[in-house]
Amino acid sequence: MSTKESPQLDPIRRGRRRTAALVGGLAAVLAATGLGAVEAPSAGAADPLPYQNPSLPTHQRVADLLGRMTIQEKVGQMTQAERIDVAADASLIATYGLGSVLSGGGSTPTENTPEAWADMVDDFQRAALGTRLGIPLLYGVDAVHGHGNLNGATVFPHNIGLGATRDPDLVRRIAHLTAKETRATGPNWNFSPCVCVARDDRWGRTYESFGETPRLATRLGGAAIDGLQGRPGQLDRPDRVLATAKHYAGDGLTDWDTGEGDYTVDQGIARVSRREFRRLALAPYPAAVRKHHVGSVMPSFSSVDWTEDGLGNPVKMHASTELITDVLKGELGFDGLVISDWRAIHQLPGDYRTQVETSVNAGVDLFMEPTTTNTVGYQQFIETLLDLVADGEVATSRIDDAVSRILTAKFELGLFEKPLTDRRHLDTVGSRAHRAVARQAVAESQVLLTNRRRTLPLQPKRQPVYVAGSNADNIGNQAGGWTLTWQGGSTNVIPGDTILDGIEKASKRAVVHSATASKPIPRQAAGIVVVGETPYAEGFGDVGGPRWAYDPGDNGVPRPAQTMQLSEADTQAVERVCAQARSCTVVVVSGRPLILPRRLRSQVDAIVASWLPGSEGRGVADVLFGQQPFTGRLPVTWPRSLAQEPINVGDRDYDPLFAYGHGLTTRKIRHRR
Ligand code: GLC
Repeated sequence: MSTKESPQLDPIRRGRRRTAALVGGLAAVLAATGLGAVEAPSAGAADPLPYQNPSLPTHQRVADLLGRMTIQEKVGQMTQAERIDVAADASLIATYGLGSVLSGGGSTPTENTPEAWADMVDDFQRAALGTRLGIPLLYGVDAVHGHGNLNGATVFPHNIGLGATRDPDLVRRIAHLTAKETRATGPNWNFSPCVCVARDDRWGRTYESFGETPRLATRLGGAAIDGLQGRPGQLDRPDRVLATAKHYAGDGLTDWDTGEGDYTVDQGIARVSRREFRRLALAPYPAAVRKHHVGSVMPSFSSVDWTEDGLGNPVKMHASTELITDVLKGELGFDGLVISDWRAIHQLPGDYRTQVETSVNAGVDLFMEPTTTNTVGYQQFIETLLDLVADGEVATSRIDDAVSRILTAKFELGLFEKPLTDRRHLDTVGSRAHRAVARQAVAESQVLLTNRRRTLPLQPKRQPVYVAGSNADNIGNQAGGWTLTWQGGSTNVIPGDTILDGIEKASKRAVVHSATASKPIPRQAAGIVVVGETPYAEGFGDVGGPRWAYDPGDNGVPRPAQTMQLSEADTQAVERVCAQARSCTVVVVSGRPLILPRRLRSQVDAIVASWLPGSEGRGVADVLFGQQPFTGRLPVTWPRSLAQEPINVGDRDYDPLFAYGHGLTTRKIRHRR
């Protein structure tokens, strides 16, 4: 990677940089004099130790605390377990001195309520506070479209729909409300936003991106970071959380058929030049780091294989010293913490000891090493890293750098002063006000692709409505992955409105609903057929990806295959409604473009890309019936056929069905009462 002059560091950054220098020196002195571990004060001591003194600058508190820590305590801080690992015995947090715990997708307290979440996190926090130095926990979740794990949270449109709004202020507002609902229920760290640039729509994580251009990922990703963290110095507030720019980098650039294991695209290999990688994959990170001060970065499972070096030597991002240490921390000046992805180091070459050594020395600071159902997990990580330090294969300076970054985040989050959940905003979880913002976002995210005979907007009083299609009345499908469970599910039910609910509330005439269009279709009816995908996450959403059952809600039934095509049932419903109703609108609820064959399109009057709207389906009806105008624009190119993938704006011989940025507009209509 070519180097650039280091940026002019702002005060926050200078402070953190000073931490690294001061800490390194002080730790070396203490280690040399054998003064490594200094007793913490007994409870209620008159004079708090420097690290316990909030009036001191963060870098001084970090240096003081680091100087008191044993190597065991330091390595414990670099370790993250999963909720399941410690749910039955929270004392394990103290036994191992864990620095962090996460809830993976669907990993919820038994009673999935806001209070139970806050109680759970506080129980874990109390265990951490009982350790010798009383270092509080970071608790992380994937609140990627609202606090989706929590039943009752406001579930906002997934990022691809927000990309269609082109509205950074709205994205910032949504992220702030997400932070509020998340922090009020305990977690202080959000593994979001994905600033991925999705280049191949066959990728199962396309919907987690804001779109196919670095510009969208940079602008809207930056707005999301600001909404989550607030301005520098606001992280200790009860409506802010630590953000994570992910997945660093090139997660959306991987080639077809290079996926990891059963995946066809996800976690695969990006075969690019350094120049192209910098233009597409790295582009969102300078702003995320320098302008938005993102507190953490998560490397990608994927690999890079430099074309100019001669292909055939893919390097996993979790092993890349060049990209994590030299570029991210060196050239870009990132001084937050680098968190590994879920057991990602187990994909690196070599045995576990080699994997740990490689990734720690590449610059990863905190390791997501759940044991859950596997044999090797957080306990072995700690033992292995202690061995590596004892053998001199990982330098104590690397350990001290990692731990300083982790402690800095904890001080900035105010966890030493207020470790337990501040519940003042608990009653805002899923509130009417939050849902109103989500509904507005849904309306702004809808993209009107075709509108023959000015079919839309519909007049609520003019005609009866006939609603069909698999996704008209399924809130699990319209919410998508990362909702209640990791993969999401068609049977997942959350509070909110389906698209059908919205249509029934917006229309002033009779509404007939028949998913398969088997009921009689009145000739004068306005037909609306809501088609699309079933939920998925990560590589399970890859076209041709695995189909094994996963979540408890799957009941052992294999997951539906993802094809980017309409199902046979939806195709038939479209044909029936369009043949008989007065007008025919198709609404596509999906995490990405779907293939719409010419024969089908020729029968349809209007087509709307609805993406994954989340809990507030009324926002779709708002634009269908003219309460809101259509303003959305495609965040990704809409292909004519699967054979065109990957297809992106700027490609040579670019000939999509609908181009990046396409979107017809309508005007808001005044409804005579
Ligand atoms: C997953 C995802 C990552 C997520 C993490 C924790 O595998 O790749 O985006 O933050 O694990 O759930």
